[in-house]
Amino acid sequence: MTTTAILSALAEEQQGLIEQLKNPAPVTRAGRDFWCGELQGRSVVLALSKIGKVAAATTATTLIEAFDVSRIVFTGVAGGVGAGVHVGDVVVATEFVQHDMDASPLFPRYQIPLYGRSLLACDATLTAMLLEASRAGLAGASGHFDKNNARASMGIHSGLIASGDRFISGADEARALQHALQAAGFAPLAVEMEGAAVAQVCFDYGVPFAAVRTISDRADDQAHVDFPLFVTEVASRYALAIIQNLMPLL
Ligand code: ADE
Repeated sequence: MTTTAILSALAEEQQGLIEQLKNPAPVTRAGRDFWCGELQGRSVVLALSKIGKVAAATTATTLIEAFDVSRIVFTGVAGGVGAGVHVGDVVVATEFVQHDMDASPLFPRYQIPLYGRSLLACDATLTAMLLEASRAGLAGASGHFDKNNARASMGIHSGLIASGDRFISGADEARALQHALQAAGFAPLAVEMEGAAVAQVCFDYGVPFAAVRTISDRADDQAHVDFPLFVTEVASRYALAIIQNLMPLL
């Protein structure tokens, strides 16, 4: 049987999925609750990544080792750092980099030591499905979340996401991070704190991985204010709509 793991970053994002779960069977492992069951007739395990790269790696490893999942789909929020990536937009990841990885001068900055690479690619087929589900799930949603930048429609982007163990909440810091990454040839659309870790675990095990992030803030001085309100009011609804549209495509 093919079981899909649906990984959420925050409890608010997971709640709607738990409410839809048929034959829910919660299991506790590694101090985490895993919800086994069915969504639209498909076998799934719902889990919280927890926050930060190590916590997310533990959750992903447990999903693979203890629940034998065949693929992992991640939904969460992120700070927008790419030009034209606004609050209320959605970014479907094509690949991940760790913006806080720096083993220089032993290895080039951003390269994962002993992997010979900085970038971890998402699974192309699963990512195409997630992009289609995002378009379908969010059709008609408006992008009127950024008061300074009200727009008639929301943007759906796909590209590189940068992960690191830091909530980026300063315009200068966001700019510096972006410039340093660009100097190394990387242009992330968004920053968050888990995706690259899950991507690395999935790379190690050969498990297909895809991720979608709703932009909750611009990683600037307002980020900590925008973030909590956005998670409860918008991101949780988006995550549910996207996953509901993904299920028939799997
Ligand atoms: N997740 C959502 N917003 C973020 C930010 N500004 N930095 C890191 N992770 C985030």
